[in-house]
Amino acid sequence: MGNKYVVGHRSESSKTSFVAHGDFIYRHEPVPIFIKAKGSALEDIGGYRYLSADAANGTANLGFDASILKESWKKVEKIPSMPSFCETELRLRVAKRLANLFYKATGEQGKVAFELGGAQGVELAIKVVKSNHRKSQFAVFEGGYHGRSIFISQLSASHRYRAFLGDWRIPVIRLPYPDVEYSTYLKTEEAFVNAALDSVDRITRGEIGGVVTNKGEGDIAALIIEPVLNAGGIVKPPKRYLEAVVKRFRELGALIVVDEIFCGFHRTGPMFGFEHYDFIPDIVILSKALTNGLAPLSCVWAKNPYMMPERFPPGTHSSTFTNNTLSLAIADTVLDRYAQWKTIHADVNRIERKLSEMISAVVKEFPIAKSGYAIGALGRIVLRKNIAGQIDDFAMTIARKNAVNGFHGAILASTGLSPHVLAINPPLTITQRELEVLRILLIQTFAAAQSLL
Ligand SMILES: Cc1ncc(COP(=O)(O)O)c(C=O)c1O
Repeated sequence: MGNKYVVGHRSESSKTSFVAHGDFIYRHEPVPIFIKAKGSALEDIGGYRYLSADAANGTANLGFDASILKESWKKVEKIPSMPSFCETELRLRVAKRLANLFYKATGEQGKVAFELGGAQGVELAIKVVKSNHRKSQFAVFEGGYHGRSIFISQLSASHRYRAFLGDWRIPVIRLPYPDVEYSTYLKTEEAFVNAALDSVDRITRGEIGGVVTNKGEGDIAALIIEPVLNAGGIVKPPKRYLEAVVKRFRELGALIVVDEIFCGFHRTGPMFGFEHYDFIPDIVILSKALTNGLAPLSCVWAKNPYMMPERFPPGTHSSTFTNNTLSLAIADTVLDRYAQWKTIHADVNRIERKLSEMISAVVKEFPIAKSGYAIGALGRIVLRKNIAGQIDDFAMTIARKNAVNGFHGAILASTGLSPHVLAINPPLTITQRELEVLRILLIQTFAAAQSLL
């Protein structure tokens, strides 16, 4: 078994030839087949155990926890399914609880609508924007990622997601990548923010930028942003940059849409990533941790009046499974768990400290790691080469011969969009002991990866 990192097509074995390889599963070798997941641990068919440092794509913030399903099932025993057009007390309860969470964070009353997954949630958010005004363009950050459906891949940075669609496009403006470190010549945060804002100014102040009229009127429907870019390389935009961008686009009449699909539910510390900044969004999308990865569900919150019936009347939005009772019951149970978790802030702080320590140690010891930081339960290590996928592969099998506290490897995260960044986002329930195992596995992985420099 090698650690060869292969992007794109790989030859199929007869064992897997009946399943399409268009998703990520067959991106790297080897491809373990998993049979168990509990807490922060996954186990494969060969008996190897892996420490999850990606929390199932950032969904399993509460760890792999089948008891959530059991509790949820009790809530739907009497109402196991319902047509999407019938109201239930369960749906009302979940919507109210979510609206209350948004009220707590924003001070704004609003409404909640449900969808199936992340990309569909972003589509729904765009529908809400469009039902409020008819402006045409969308602004996003370079490096932003909002999903891969045909429509939403227009917003996500990677051209390869939409290249095969040909010339069909929605108008998207990409604002300077908010990663201070990515610039080779703007060394300080201040210089970076000044240059980035200069560029935003040029785009939005006059006809020269191609997006406003000669009177400076905006034709921008929405600014759609992640508070911390996930697939784009775990990038926390500088506060001054993000807040100035929000202010500028608001002046132009754009609605401010925050994609909390990855950051929501305390991944970066507070309940929502936007709480790191001083602004109130108009529309927010949540998914992933909303069901702890146990059912596909997303939701869109819009402050009043954006989803009032006059603007968003019955029939504007519908899909067979959006109000699925089991998904809603799971969300309800997940909300119970967070409500009961009184020490969550201290626990996430503890994870942040430990991640910071291990990331600093890796950066200090291994030249292949250039820099890194942690924000809440989210860490990034910037590499000197575009080899995050290869390092992922090393991590999976690094302790096969000598398991560390019963773990044979770790599952880290990386993306094709930012192949220079290794992401670490374990379940928020990870124990101190498991964090220590993660540290050891990480050090071993980087020691092995030195050969790639
Ligand atoms: C910030 C962000 N938005 C949107 C999405 C897309 O969600 P989904 O994969 O459920 O379509 C993701 C997925 O990683 C994400 O991280």
